[in-house]
Amino acid sequence: MSTKQHRHAAVEAMVTKVKTQLSEGVNVHSLNLAKIELLKLCSQRHLFPRSDFPVPDEKQIEWFYLIYEDKNSEYALYINSALPCQTYRPHNHGGSWAIIGAVEGEEKHSLYRSGDDGSVEFINEIMVKPGTAVSMLGDGIHSISAQGNAPLLHLHFYQKSFPKQGKRIEYNLDTGIAEHFFLKDLDYIVDYR
Ligand SMILES: [Fe+2]
Repeated sequence: MSTKQHRHAAVEAMVTKVKTQLSEGVNVHSLNLAKIELLKLCSQRHLFPRSDFPVPDEKQIEWFYLIYEDKNSEYALYINSALPCQTYRPHNHGGSWAIIGAVEGEEKHSLYRSGDDGSVEFINEIMVKPGTAVSMLGDGIHSISAQGNAPLLHLHFYQKSFPKQGKRIEYNLDTGIAEHFFLKDLDYIVDYR
């Protein structure tokens, strides 16, 4: 089998386990079990060669490669290959749960909860690097800041693929403005199934 076929088989096996784990409901416990499965996948470094997911250049510092989604556009798995300057302001995922784990590189994820007035309140932060992952329920909010000098190769696993996620909200902490948007038709997302 080719590397791509090995990768697909490993991803399908992971998704099958996660579907069972989440079948009784998505909550902190079941999502933590799913996170362990994603971490096992992340640890199989040979499945994610740089020949398939090259380090980006300065013109386009990040790419998202869709490598799996089921027939309902659910259980969508992306490879995020990015330079270590990648940042994202606090945002939710349109109601989707999300799990992010590292193959290579370090990224700080700051977690927030939304207040009744539309503001966000910082909860804590976690460094996502090889051996660690972060998970968020459907109402989870995080900001991202890559750390160090190593390029990122991270797995982003969502309840729904980007185009099928609901309306996202991005929070500008400086102005207090929350912007609503849909995540689709972006030229740095590649269908790599
Ligand atoms: Fe996110």
